[in-house]
Amino acid sequence: MKTTKLLAFLVAANSLLIACNSSSSSSTADTSTKAVTSMHWGNVDGKDVKLYTLTNKNGVEIKISNYGGIVTSWMTPDKNGKKSNVVLGFDSLSGYLAKPPYFGAIIGRYGNRIGNATFKIDTTTYQLAANDGKQHLHGGNKGYDKVVWEAQPSDSTASLMLTYLSKDGEEGYPGNLSITVVYTLTDADELLMEYSAETDKTTPVNLTNHSYFNLTGDVANTILGHQLQVHADKYTPVDAGLIPTGELKAVKDGPFDFLQPHHIGERIAQVPGGYDHNFVLNRTTANLELVATLSDSISGRKLEVYTTEPGLQFYSGNFLDGSIKNSSGKPIQQYAALCLETQHFPDSPNKPAFPSTLLKPGEKYTTVTKYKVSLQ
Ligand code: BGC
Repeated sequence: MKTTKLLAFLVAANSLLIACNSSSSSSTADTSTKAVTSMHWGNVDGKDVKLYTLTNKNGVEIKISNYGGIVTSWMTPDKNGKKSNVVLGFDSLSGYLAKPPYFGAIIGRYGNRIGNATFKIDTTTYQLAANDGKQHLHGGNKGYDKVVWEAQPSDSTASLMLTYLSKDGEEGYPGNLSITVVYTLTDADELLMEYSAETDKTTPVNLTNHSYFNLTGDVANTILGHQLQVHADKYTPVDAGLIPTGELKAVKDGPFDFLQPHHIGERIAQVPGGYDHNFVLNRTTANLELVATLSDSISGRKLEVYTTEPGLQFYSGNFLDGSIKNSSGKPIQQYAALCLETQHFPDSPNKPAFPSTLLKPGEKYTTVTKYKVSLQ
């Protein structure tokens, strides 16, 4: 697992600090201005599900559940100071139990697709759950988006630590994988997501978050009018099953060229099925770098994506079809929102030339991604 070095260390140290803060009772904590509050939200698999609200000093508010680690809402002001929710989500747990396509959730053990739901490590072949035709998608039938995580809110910062033990054999993967995801809402209006994991058998790991953004805050508007910039000279073309062919193809001058900002609707007709592709990010260091910027002139909002990962899946909400309604009863139509999923490349376990996703016993998986929503 090639990941960050110094940054990873700093992040791990920071997470530890958050964990320590949360377990010691702070004598100065003022409950009336608590950065994290929680409410009971339901029960799944006999476990208590809660909804946590993280609030920063600007009054920006992000809600996260320990069911699937789902970011259910992100309330932030537009250019007129009016707050609205910029991510797809529901007010109640029942919306998620109906299995919407991964709204806001933590994805794993392997985000994105693994071809023919199988891979080999040395001489052993592993068969995963095939939950997307012949392919394995987003961790299988019951991925990390559908399990209840242990949650530890911080006493002092707008931060929530989630942990989950993914058992050896779960959805076909080898090894007990112990995972920690720390979500922090900073006072700079960023959602920091720090992922770490350890295993007792060699296994592929590729964790991400599946938030769908519509910066207008209203699903009645599509994201075709949003502008996107992605710092990627190349992308990974796919076959009919959306599995990369293995080629790293230059984006130059085609519909995948987002080196300069383009409206998403401008060239989407040239991409059969819409955008659902992994971009090969132009990284200069292993640190957290700005890799993409999304902006919307209606609200005046922009979203910046920073990550330590080598890839970014741009999914333009092609399979949304109006059959799911949001909490206000509005149908979520095709292109009502988009995902910018930071990740290693799809099907890496079967593509030796792609950066490795294998985590070995004794190693630590660490990646960091940050979404920042602000005004243009
Ligand atoms: C994938 C899409 C898939 C969607 C499900 C995205 O990450 O790239 O192909 O349909 O998730 O919501």
